[in-house]
Amino acid sequence: MANVVVVGAQWGDEGKGKIVDWLSERADVIARFQGGHNAGHTLVIDGTVYKLHALPSGVVRGGKLSVIGNGVVLDPWHLISEIETLRGQGVVITPETLMIAENTPLILPIHGELDRAREAQNSVAKIGTTGRGIGPAYEDKVGRRVVRVADLADAATLELRVDRALIHHDALRRGLGLPPVDRDALISNLRDVADEILQYAAPVWKVMTEARKAGKRILFEGAQGALLDIDFGTYPFVTSSNVIAGQAATGVGLGPGAIDFVLGIVKAYTTRVGEGPFPTELLDDDGQRLGERGHEFGTTTGRKRRCGWFDACLVRQTCATSGVNGISLTKLDVLDGFETLKICVGYDLDGKVLDYLPTAADQQARCKPIYEEMPGWSESTEGARSWAELPANAIKYVRRVEELIDCPVALLSTSPEREDTILVRDPFAD
Ligand code: IMP
Repeated sequence: MANVVVVGAQWGDEGKGKIVDWLSERADVIARFQGGHNAGHTLVIDGTVYKLHALPSGVVRGGKLSVIGNGVVLDPWHLISEIETLRGQGVVITPETLMIAENTPLILPIHGELDRAREAQNSVAKIGTTGRGIGPAYEDKVGRRVVRVADLADAATLELRVDRALIHHDALRRGLGLPPVDRDALISNLRDVADEILQYAAPVWKVMTEARKAGKRILFEGAQGALLDIDFGTYPFVTSSNVIAGQAATGVGLGPGAIDFVLGIVKAYTTRVGEGPFPTELLDDDGQRLGERGHEFGTTTGRKRRCGWFDACLVRQTCATSGVNGISLTKLDVLDGFETLKICVGYDLDGKVLDYLPTAADQQARCKPIYEEMPGWSESTEGARSWAELPANAIKYVRRVEELIDCPVALLSTSPEREDTILVRDPFAD
């Protein structure tokens, strides 16, 4: 039995939703281990579109256990409304099918306000966040002043936790010109949702340990992408969690040995939302064309994504930091019809050739991509379900990507439809 971690290997939006859904059908437990409702996974099942932000993709399938691990930051009001929307679509969600770690930190309205107030300053502090309060909630977690799911169970503890957080927040808010927090209203709003949330609360580390012992198949569902990782991403233009695969274990309370296969999701070109360096970004017609053909608009914020050529240098790096065993290459069909394709194989930094992206922000900004050119293909690859259906140049492109990133293709996705997938190596069979 293999446990599989799915991580984005670029800046997010690699098409994880479809692959996670494809794999979740064969898993028993699906667990989120980082991030929050900044994520946006769209699933299309039998013609119905489900949009998930905080919930693991497994919830839309019957007979699975969905888990929100301690590595996640959870907005309780958002979760309740997401559950209601899905119930309206006929999805059954009960404490037997959804469990939330008791030690999961909560995102409060003050986190969203702080996130948006900082972004609105439009200064050097601007990151281009989703405005969902993700960063401030993680700050409070490591600052030891966050309210966690378990705190909702006891009125006195809850008040104590809120007061602890507000000492910090009221001082910050004064500096930003925001009014002080209405403490009593915040506590009362938390009390209103406490029972609803607590019915799903569980010692997730224990549940996961038992699931492992019972030989259940676990799918760890990553959000965002490795280049947004708080340690290994393009800091400070990153999200506030560890996104890379090692987080899957800590983010639910299992040891590192729980992970058997890391599947990196890789788009056949590159996109990013928000601010920050992007060496292969295209500001020309080719970039426009990738965006249009790839429908590159954010699921969570609707923002237009920046687009560029495939950066093999970056993906080699993220495959290394996540220990990726195989990749799922997505959206190859978006490259159909380009006469020539470019792949970034290294960077020119002030005349020196680098085979990795340096850490210093000023150096990242000066890195000029070194491209290798490959002939494109005029045929359509959309919907291909076997290698035989792919044009020779498309196969060459995929093979070259594998060589350059030093990692094999396990799955190839050729359209949003789940059946339009070429399976090379089954991650669960390892
Ligand atoms: P935050 O996670 O809202 O703090 O945003 C930090 C950075 O991560 C911004 O550049 C966001 O655009 C980016 N980001 C956060 N979540 C996602 C995602 O699910 N897909 C792509 N980018 C994301």
